[in-house]
Amino acid sequence: MYVCLCNGLTDTQIRGAIDAGARRPKEVYAACNCSAQCGCCTGTMLSIIRDQPSAPFQGDARG
Ligand code: FES
Repeated sequence: MYVCLCNGLTDTQIRGAIDAGARRPKEVYAACNCSAQCGCCTGTMLSIIRDQPSAPFQGDARG
């Protein structure tokens, strides 16, 4: 499922970035070699980070 339409990032890519150590949206973007554009995906990305067992939530809504 596409989560970030601006960068074409799927939930699978985002989970992979989290497994690799990303704990905040900006770290997910960096791990995927892109950056935030419109920011509409940030809330969904935070939910994925919170729900990922390997990633205790440490970020905030500012990314
Ligand atoms: S949808 Fe992700 S930055 Fe726009």
